[in-house]
Amino acid sequence: MAKPLSIRENVCLRAFNTFQFDVRARYFVSVRKVSELMAALLWAKERNLDPLILGGGSNLVLVDQVNTLVIHIAKMGKYWRDVEGDRATLILGAGENWHDAVLYAAAANYRGIENLALIPGTVGAAPVQNIGAYGVELGDTLESLLALDCETGELVELTNPDCRFSYRDSLFKHRPDRYIILEVSLRLCRSKPFSLGYGELRNYFAQPEGALTPLTVAQGVMAIRRRKLPDPPQLPNAGSFFKNPEVSMPTWQRLRSEFPGIVGYPGTHKVKLAAAWMIDQCGWKGFRNERVGVHNRQALVLVNHARGTGRDILALADQIRSAVWARFGVALDIEPRVYPQGREGRE
Ligand code: EPU
Repeated sequence: MAKPLSIRENVCLRAFNTFQFDVRARYFVSVRKVSELMAALLWAKERNLDPLILGGGSNLVLVDQVNTLVIHIAKMGKYWRDVEGDRATLILGAGENWHDAVLYAAAANYRGIENLALIPGTVGAAPVQNIGAYGVELGDTLESLLALDCETGELVELTNPDCRFSYRDSLFKHRPDRYIILEVSLRLCRSKPFSLGYGELRNYFAQPEGALTPLTVAQGVMAIRRRKLPDPPQLPNAGSFFKNPEVSMPTWQRLRSEFPGIVGYPGTHKVKLAAAWMIDQCGWKGFRNERVGVHNRQALVLVNHARGTGRDILALADQIRSAVWARFGVALDIEPRVYPQGREGRE
């Protein structure tokens, strides 16, 4: 007989969101298997509750008490499939820690995700915002993923194009309640060139590429990140709080003539602006009040100094957005998911 679900009541979520906001879930369950997930969803449906699905909580702003069932995805597992010549597919359970998965692939000498070392969160959350760093995005190696389609109740395999990845964006951001990601398959390779074009990485690795391994590249990325990004357990945060906004070529020309130092990365039709630079120019870097603030080494990262709340962080984000808008005429979009929805304060 299947084990009954162990649903707990009034559970503190501090350890389940990297901002460490002290909010409570009315009900909470951790699921390790698809059958447990199905049972939890049924339990919620019978009580007319819309569950909140949670991975590592590293890209989440909890604004209020969570008056529903939190389903924590803890489906584990790491194994290799389709090993052919230099290539292999790494299958990862959604509950696995992302950084551990990067080190696991790198230790087996497979390349493709080493630039994504030290990104907080779980494997299942990684496709949602198409995590990216130092010139690499998850969408570059993700082959397919297994998800529960909550509309049909069926397990589905979504291919890379199905996921509609783009910069910090995917199908899952637009349909947050439709799919629950259970397993991710990455196609990795032992011989492809490393992506070391990103300025800081290039400078870090002065040695020729021949001497590098996926593990040494991952270690370099870790050293660079540790220099300027706060470690959530020590200084609670959710990584970049704003996306780098994309503007049209004419807007870019206008901004460049008005602000010669502005940092932008031109693409084919649009230019991605460094939001951190604009926030920094507005004087917000290192700002803090008694509870929350802006990190003093990376202006894109908002931090919870002491007993801050989701509302404190959103209020600070609003002030920053207004300042950037007033000075540059550029709107910043916030990156993490806000729960409950509709508290983002977008214009
Ligand atoms: N800059 C400033 N002030 C700052 C920080 C940066 O002027 O406080 C300038 C830098 O000098 C640089 C530019 O802004 O010219 C860009 O900065 P950086 O290279 O640090 O990258 P970013 O655009 O701020 C993005 C990602 C990071 C990722 C890095 C490296 C987004 C929203 N953020 O930051 O991702 O680690 O590139 O690839 O795209 C995350 O998503 O949580 C995250 C940390």
